[in-house]
Amino acid sequence: MTVTVITGGGAGIGASVARRLAARGDSLVIADRDPSAANAVADEVGGVAVAVDVAVPGSGRIVVDAALQTYGRLDAVVACAGIERGAPAAQISRETFEQVYAVNVHGSFDVAQAAFRVFERQGEGGRIVLIGSANSMVALPGQSAYASSKGAVLMLARSLAVDWAHAGVTVNVVAPGVTDTAMSSQSLSDPTKRASLMSKIPMGRPARPEEIAEAVEFLSSERTSYITGAYLPVDGGWLAAG
Ligand SMILES: NC(=O)c1ccc[n+]([C@@H]2O[C@H](COP(=O)([O-])OP(=O)(O)OC[C@H]3O[C@@H](n4cnc5c(N)ncnc54)[C@H](O)[C@@H]3O)[C@@H](O)[C@H]2O)c1
Repeated sequence: MTVTVITGGGAGIGASVARRLAARGDSLVIADRDPSAANAVADEVGGVAVAVDVAVPGSGRIVVDAALQTYGRLDAVVACAGIERGAPAAQISRETFEQVYAVNVHGSFDVAQAAFRVFERQGEGGRIVLIGSANSMVALPGQSAYASSKGAVLMLARSLAVDWAHAGVTVNVVAPGVTDTAMSSQSLSDPTKRASLMSKIPMGRPARPEEIAEAVEFLSSERTSYITGAYLPVDGGWLAAG
C-alpha cells in the first residue's frame, strides 16, 4: 500500500494529482483549507479529507497524523497548496507578502518536515514533491511575493534533499508553467493577458492540470529512488525559450 498526503488537494492541480494517484492505487489524505472541496475530492477518490490551513504552524503534523491514523503509514507527500497575490512591488503590503510566504514556503516546509519525521521512524525512505513554478526561475510583473516565494520553494527542496538523502527520502520540485485552474483563470480569461502569456510559451497553450499530475506521479513513485533535488518544469517550453 502506498499512502500519500496531498495539500491543496481540493482543487486545481492538487485535485488532479489526487485523481492520478488514486488511479495508480494510492491511499490518499486530501488536505485543503476549503473543507467542502477536500470532502468532494476525498469522496471521489476514496480518500480521507482533512481541513487545514497550511499557513498555520503544526498543520503538517495534523495531515501526517491523519495518514497514520487512517492507514498506519506514510509513503509520500505532495505540497500543492499555494496562493498568488499579484501587486506592484512598490505597493504590495508587508502583510500580503508574508501571507504568500506563509502558504507557499512555510506551509511546504511544515508538511515536509512532519513527513520526514515519520519516514525516518519507518526506515523505508519516502517521497516529497513540492510544487514550484516556472516563476521559481523567471519573474513576471507584479510577482515580487509570488515569484520570490517559488524561488524559495526550489531552494527549500534542494536543501531538504541534501539533508535527508541519507534516509532515502527524495525531495523534488515539479514546476508548472501557466496551468488552466482557478489560480490562473483571471489572466487566462482576459484576452490581452492571455495573449501576452501565451506568447512566451512555445506550445502556445496553458497546461491541463492532468499534465502536471503526470510529473508528480513520476516523482512520487517508488521508481524515482535516485532522483533528488531535481527541478522538473512542465511548462510547454516556456523556460527553454528563455
Ligand atoms: N495554475 C497555475 O498556472 C500555476 C502555475 C505554476 C504553479 N502553480 C502552483 O500549483 C499549485 C496549485 O495551484 P492551482 O493552480 O491548482 O491553484 P488553485 O487555486 O486552483 O487550487 C489551490 C488549492 O489549494 C488550496 N489552498 C490554498 N491555500 C491553502 C492553505 N493555506 N491551506 C490549505 N489549502 C490551501 C485551495 O483551497 C485550493 O483548493 C500552487 O502551489 C501554485 O502556486 C500553479
